[in-house]
Amino acid sequence: MIQFDVKKINNAYFDEKTEEILSSLEKTQKEFWNLDRYSANFLNMLIKINNSKNVLEIGTSNGYSGIWILKALEETGGKLTTVEYWEKRQSVARKNFEICVSDVEVEPKIGSAVIVLQDLEEEIKNFKREKFDFVFIDANKKEYVEYFQIIDRILKSGGVILADNILTHYEKTLPYINVLFERVDYQSQILDIGAGMMLSRKK
Ligand SMILES: C[S@@+](CC[C@H](N)C(=O)[O-])C[C@H]1O[C@@H](n2cnc3c(N)ncnc32)[C@H](O)[C@@H]1O
Repeated sequence: MIQFDVKKINNAYFDEKTEEILSSLEKTQKEFWNLDRYSANFLNMLIKINNSKNVLEIGTSNGYSGIWILKALEETGGKLTTVEYWEKRQSVARKNFEICVSDVEVEPKIGSAVIVLQDLEEEIKNFKREKFDFVFIDANKKEYVEYFQIIDRILKSGGVILADNILTHYEKTLPYINVLFERVDYQSQILDIGAGMMLSRKK
């Protein structure tokens, strides 16, 4: 029988500056509702394994998960668009990104996620930007279905959606779970990682 907590262990390690920022953010994880390190490592690996280059994050907070996304994009050569309605948080995130990552483009969006998603869809329709190949959902749990209805139209085929808090906020995320499992053009699975994540791939 395994004698250690596998859910707390990984061997991800970045440069000293990044590790300093990550460990300081880990001290206030509950306050800013950040991913835990284990889930963040999974997110980072997934982006690299999928070779994703155009990532959308819904729920920036102070940038903890964003740093892990950017570290993956450093390897894949991609770009992050990240949405947060709280301006102060978005600006703290921007500072953290600047310290940890230098050559990855970040487009911070301040505003309500549904509105920002509608704007992004409009830009994609008008050929002003490309569809996304990876979306990380981590904002208002009650709005996950609404997010998905738009994401579905702005996600490339073969694109991936990772949604957090699927198990900790089960009552709120259940409609999202049901919608995704009903879709035959998506392959989905719930993972007992961190707060519970749902991984979906558009066929
Ligand atoms: C769980 S936290 C995100 C944590 C972040 N992904 C991380 O792991 O570092 C959710 C964030 O989404 C923001 N948020 C919640 N509802 C939102 C909405 N409807 N539109 C935009 N941002 C929203 C909150 O202000 C909060 O900072």
